[in-house]
Amino acid sequence: MKVAVTGKGGSGKSMISGALSRHLAARGRAVVAVDGDPNPNLGISLGVARETVETMEPILNGLIAIGHTHDDPTPEPEDLLARYGVGAPDGIVLVATGKIERPTDSCLCCGSHLTTRQFFGDLPGDGDRVVIADLEAGLSDLVWADPGPDDVVLVVAEPSAKSVEIARRAAVIARDLGVQRILGVANRSVGDDDAARLTEAIGGEVLVVPEDPAVEQADHQGTSPFDLDPTSPAMSAVGALAARLVDGG
Ligand SMILES: Nc1ncnc2c1ncn2[C@@H]1O[C@H](COP(=O)(O)OP(=O)(O)OP(=O)(O)O)[C@@H](O)[C@H]1O
Ligand SMILES: [Mg+2]
Repeated sequence: MKVAVTGKGGSGKSMISGALSRHLAARGRAVVAVDGDPNPNLGISLGVARETVETMEPILNGLIAIGHTHDDPTPEPEDLLARYGVGAPDGIVLVATGKIERPTDSCLCCGSHLTTRQFFGDLPGDGDRVVIADLEAGLSDLVWADPGPDDVVLVVAEPSAKSVEIARRAAVIARDLGVQRILGVANRSVGDDDAARLTEAIGGEVLVVPEDPAVEQADHQGTSPFDLDPTSPAMSAVGALAARLVDGG
């Protein structure tokens, strides 16, 4: 299974991607967590040590460093995973597609989008493996990632009207790309109408993840909310999302 996680900036994509990865790994899945944000920080939400997150080499940066160009054949995704993936808790492998580190004349972010497309598209997500891609905020990276009929798109929105509107547009794009399974996540929910508004906006299934002080606390500490308290309200809700994804439960 391959899951693309999209939504407005700050809606909780990385928090959901990290916690979902941890829950799925705890259920015995072989999780590959792909950080598609050119400012990668999924590792923190996953529970990877800060030094590892800071020193890990993203695919695009690594390929540029060894002189790889667009004219060279696209490397095999399993080779890229072995070369640039780093270990995260519970056997999860974390890989970042690209990182903007300093001013450049060329467009690193386009390269990063393209790397996400190639890697997410080519890496097999069969058997016990689940590939979870935490995409860059907004809709461009969703178009680039190019999920298809066999993939799942998770559209994360917090309760603001802007976030819900971007979720609506994300669902339209995902449907146009042929995605069959689009799941909304009403994150940071504080009232009953949050889920209803998102359900109406995306025209499909929605799960609620409540506003949770434990997530905020983990964020302040720079740790993973799953490690702080895997049974907190938000972590439990993401656990239910994991069950829904893999067991239909
Ligand atoms: N359910 C929640 N309860 C409380 N705080 C939350 C919850 N979900 C996310 N947050 C907080 O919201 C902020 C944004 O979350 P996160 O970084 O996961 O969003 P994002 O969509 O990945 O952002 P970006 O677009 O910058 O990548 C963080 O401070 C996070 O701790
Ligand atoms: Mg993020």
